[in-house]
Amino acid sequence: MGLQEEVKKRKTFAIISHPDAGKTTMTEKLLLFGNLIRSAGTVKGKKSGKFATSDWMEIEKQRGISVTSSVMNFEYKGHKVNILDTPGHEDFSEDTYRTLTAVDSVVMIIDATKGIEAQTIKLFKVCKMRGIPIFTFINKLDREGREPLELLDQIEEVLNIETYPMNWPVGMGKRFLGILDRYQDQFIKFNGNEEESYIPMSEMDQDEITQHPTYQETVDELELLNEAGDQFSIDRVLEGEQTPVFFGSALAPFGVQTFFDTFIELAPAPGPRRTTEEVISPNYPDFSGFIFKIQANMNPQHRDRIAFLRVCSGKFERGMNVTLARTGKSIRLGQTQQFVASSRDTVQEAYAGDIIGVYDPGSYRIGDTLLEGKNVFQYDELPQFPPEMFQRVTAKNVMKAKQFRKGIEQLVQEGAIQLFRGYPTDSMIIGAVGQLQYEVFQHRMKNEYNVEVMLESIGDRIPRWLKKDQVDPKLFDERNLLVKDREEDFLVLFKNDFALRWFVDKHPDVELIDLFEVN
Ligand code: G4P
Repeated sequence: MGLQEEVKKRKTFAIISHPDAGKTTMTEKLLLFGNLIRSAGTVKGKKSGKFATSDWMEIEKQRGISVTSSVMNFEYKGHKVNILDTPGHEDFSEDTYRTLTAVDSVVMIIDATKGIEAQTIKLFKVCKMRGIPIFTFINKLDREGREPLELLDQIEEVLNIETYPMNWPVGMGKRFLGILDRYQDQFIKFNGNEEESYIPMSEMDQDEITQHPTYQETVDELELLNEAGDQFSIDRVLEGEQTPVFFGSALAPFGVQTFFDTFIELAPAPGPRRTTEEVISPNYPDFSGFIFKIQANMNPQHRDRIAFLRVCSGKFERGMNVTLARTGKSIRLGQTQQFVASSRDTVQEAYAGDIIGVYDPGSYRIGDTLLEGKNVFQYDELPQFPPEMFQRVTAKNVMKAKQFRKGIEQLVQEGAIQLFRGYPTDSMIIGAVGQLQYEVFQHRMKNEYNVEVMLESIGDRIPRWLKKDQVDPKLFDERNLLVKDREEDFLVLFKNDFALRWFVDKHPDVELIDLFEVN
C-alpha cells in the first residue's frame, strides 16, 4: 500500500471528559468493536477501580511515578484507529494537555445528567485554541437527564461552539424509546437489555411507536430544529467551529455503533503540520515526527525512559537512522514500541498519525523533532499550559544544592513540572496542573538525583501574564505574587478569583494575559 493510502486510513483521536462521564466505558466499547478485548469489564475492573489496560501502569502508579496516556490502536472497517488516552482524576497533568497536540480530532463525552463540567472545559479550550475538530457524545440517556435543548444551549454558551445534533433522543431515562438519527435518516429503537434495532425513516409509519406521545413531541421538536437550527457543515466541523452532537448510552450500549461509524467516516485523517521551514504534508516522503511526552522509569530495572513520538510524515521503519533536529545529532531508532491495549509490541513500521514509543537514553526533550533526509526543520513548539497549583520548593539538605539545581533543571526541561522564580526574592516555585506532577517530581528528585525536596504549598492560584512594559513590582505582594517564568516573562499568581477581579477593577490599564485565551 502506498504512503497516501496508509495516511488516509488513519484516525487518531483522544476522548476528553470530566471524571465519571463515561470515558472508560466508551473506550471499552470501542475496543470491543476493534476486537481488542472480548468482553466488557476488561478495561477497568468495575468494582476494584483497577485498570487492566496495562499492569505496568498500575505498578508505576503504586510507585508514584508517572502514569499517563497510553495509546490503543486497532483496525476498524478499513481504518486504522489510534486512541490516545487523556488521563483525568488524580492523574491529570500537563501530559493530558500535551496529548491533545498529537491527535487529529477529539471525542468529548458529556454526562446528560450533569451537563458540562470543569475538566471538560479546560480540555475543550486547548482543542479550540488548536482548531481540533470536536465530536460530542452526550452520554447516560438511559437516565433522567437534562433536556437535550438545554444541553445544546449549554455547549454553545459555555464552550462557544456551534452544535449540530446528528441524532435526537426520543424520551429519556425510563421513558427512553430511542433516537431519531438525522444523519442516517433512521430511527434507532432502544430495546432495553436487547440489542438496538434500526428502522429507516421511510418505513416508520408502519411502526406503532409513532403513536406514542413522546415520539410525536420529539418529531415536532425536530421540525423546529430543522427550521431554526444551524445547518450541518463538514467544513466548519473540520475547522473546529461546529461540533456534531450524538446522544446515547455508553453503558447500555446504545447509539454507540452509529456514533462511531459516523465519527470514523467524518473525522479527519492526519493533515499537514506547521514547522520552522514550511508546512509538512503527511505524504511528504521523508519520515518526521515530534515528541509530545516522555515517560520515565517504565522499567524500574533499567531506569529507561520512553519518548512518545507522533509520526507526521513519511514512513517509520525500525532501526532507521534519524536526525534530532535540535542538536543535529544522528540517532538509530532501534528500540521502538507500539502501544496496544495491554502490551507493548515492537513496531516495525508506522505512518503519519501513528504513535510510537522510542527508547530515550536521556537525549530528548518534549517538543523535539526527529526526522530523516537532508531537509532539517522543527515542528512548532508545544505550547506552555497554565498551571493551577503552586508550591515553593527547597532542598531538605542545603549541602545538596548542586544536585538539587541539576535535578530541577532536567525535570523542567523534560516538561515534568514548570519552574517560576519569585521576583525579586528569586525563590523557586513549581507549578503543575495536577497533584500527580508533584508526586512524580518528589519521587524522581529522590530516586534519580538523590535529593529530598521540601514542598510548601502556596495554594491554587490563577496565573496571568503581564506585558513587559507593564511590570510594576509595587502593585504585588504575597497575596498576588509576582514571578518570572522560564522565558523571563513576568506573571502574577493571583490568590483567587476575587483578588483577580479586585485587581482588574483597581488597575484597568494593566493588561492581564490568560494563556488559555491566546491563539
Ligand atoms: P470515566 O472513565 O469518564 O471516569 O467514567 P466511567 O466510564 O468509569 O463511568 C463512570 C460511571 O458511569 C460508572 O459507574 C459507569 O458504569 C457509569 N456509566 C457510564 N456510561 C453510562 C451510561 O450510559 N449510563 C449509565 N446509567 N451509567 C453509565 P460507577 O457506578 O461509578 O462504576 P461501576 O461500578 O459501574 O464501574
